[in-house]
Amino acid sequence: MSNVYVMDHPLIQHKIGIMRKKSTSTKEFRALVSEVAMLIYYEASRNLPLADKEIETPIAKTVVKEIAGKKLCVVPILRAGMHMADGILTLTPNAKVGHIGLYRDEKTLEPVEYFCKLPQDASEREIFLVDPMLATGGSADAAITLLKRRGIKKIRFLCLIAAPEGVEKLTKAHPDVDVYIGALDDHLNEKGYIVPGLGDAGDRIYGTK
Ligand code: PRP
Ligand code: URA
Repeated sequence: MSNVYVMDHPLIQHKIGIMRKKSTSTKEFRALVSEVAMLIYYEASRNLPLADKEIETPIAKTVVKEIAGKKLCVVPILRAGMHMADGILTLTPNAKVGHIGLYRDEKTLEPVEYFCKLPQDASEREIFLVDPMLATGGSADAAITLLKRRGIKKIRFLCLIAAPEGVEKLTKAHPDVDVYIGALDDHLNEKGYIVPGLGDAGDRIYGTK
């Protein structure tokens, strides 16, 4: 069964509150996507394995901890996941980056795939799949299925806001994937938007509406 972690950190709650306001500017919204992603990633990376490494400080030899293997890979779901990846790369700049292009058909709400480019050694890496919104769960489900078809096993999914419907779909379809959520909202409306949500994440990041 998936572990589902809903963030309770005051900084995350405060920043998501600002993102929800329709008066928040594109510039501020974009910066917040990146900041909140960084804070969620801090939690999602908590159980990465560590290894001992001998080093020398200016005073003495000692043993320090480092992330074992450093085999990390961030995979944003385009478009809106891109700015989440930026925040995550601030904390782990050596992570590799893959991209999955998906959009939701406005009528059927079904995901349509248009792009996929992953690092060659992606199946050896810990994958952090990121998308700000988990609504019906169709896009995240399709992206995870695609990753698994490429032999990828270690996947965590990070989002800023989720609807209960999406969480249920994702955890049923992929019980092996842990899910990290900034805020868990109430429901989906008849158009598949999260309520209260923050609107269309891609449009708010890129100012396209
Ligand atoms: C949004 C969002 C997710 C998807 C979530 O993308 O970024 O990818 O919707 O909805 P779902 O859980 O019901 O699949 P959108 O399709 O608007 O594409 P965009 O990022 O290109 O704007
Ligand atoms: N995609 C978004 O960007 N927002 C929603 O509320 C649902 C799907």
